[in-house]
Amino acid sequence: MTIVFFALSGLDVLDALDAVDKPSLVEWIYSLQVVPTEDESNLWRCGFRGSSHIGVPYNTSTGPGSPHPYDSGHVAMTYTGLACLIILGDDLSRVNKKACLAGLKSLQLEDGSFYAVPEGSENDMRFVYCAACVCYMLDDWSGIDCKKAVDYIRRSMSYDSGIGQGAGLESHGGSTFCAIATLCLMGKLEEMFSERELNRIRRWCILRQQDGFHGRPNKPVDTCYSFWVGATLELLDVFQYTNFEKNRNYILSTQDSLVGGFAKWPDSHPDPLHTYFGICGLSLMGEAGLRRVHPALNVSDRALQCLQQLHQTWREGCT
Ligand code: FPP
Repeated sequence: MTIVFFALSGLDVLDALDAVDKPSLVEWIYSLQVVPTEDESNLWRCGFRGSSHIGVPYNTSTGPGSPHPYDSGHVAMTYTGLACLIILGDDLSRVNKKACLAGLKSLQLEDGSFYAVPEGSENDMRFVYCAACVCYMLDDWSGIDCKKAVDYIRRSMSYDSGIGQGAGLESHGGSTFCAIATLCLMGKLEEMFSERELNRIRRWCILRQQDGFHGRPNKPVDTCYSFWVGATLELLDVFQYTNFEKNRNYILSTQDSLVGGFAKWPDSHPDPLHTYFGICGLSLMGEAGLRRVHPALNVSDRALQCLQQLHQTWREGCT
């Protein structure tokens, strides 16, 4: 699912979505929804799976499913699954919102962080961000205890004013993005950090630029941080103070001239993740021919508009 997201959202930013068979992709995504059983005893496991790897038969119906001992959603798949549906122009009418939110709720730990899967897994800032994206897209924050999540983010700020995957862990561009984007999606950035703290986070992020960006001090630059750190700087209103020319040249130096994809480094193999974030990194700088990417939700402005129209329709339906 995440690879499909990189491909679809990448094509959307490139304004090339016409090349895809949208109806069959929408069906494929719905076939990966973990739906409640008749007695709803698996509600805590609902969401989206990443693929058909456990052998659940292909089924796009949203009626009650039959139980499978290993069938659970994964928060990154629920996030990217919903994002793909929005990119494809689906109205989310077949998403079982109650089940997705119940599944999300079962992933949050006492310390505010999230597991990826309800059986337990690593728990860190990545999955806090995925959970925030799910709630934002479903326009319903009941799946998260926001106070606990926000406290977790606060505790993850390190001595150098970057943000780690959790309390006491090394500041990293990836986790700093997840933390700041989560607060922006919740509308709680200014409430959580003072202006002085925000300035220190800005400084930590700006110092990540070498030519492209790296994720932490003394590490090599990598194409994907042109998005993770670039988007964070954009959310903090200081991206314009970075050197666009150097960043752009670095990203373009990692593009494979034969297959067109981007790699993390020049002369290494391109892959879908770095291709997508390379394109997004360029989009943040206003590259001609690319749609703008929304720096917090990580979808195109066009897809975000579709989502906002959908929310409007849901709200009108409630009044
Ligand atoms: C590499 O670690 C890690 C990355 C390139 C991923 C960083 C991005 C995030 C943590 C955000 C993920 C967000 C979601 C929503 C899943 P490394 O130690 O190999 O690389 P480094 O040397 O560059 O730090």
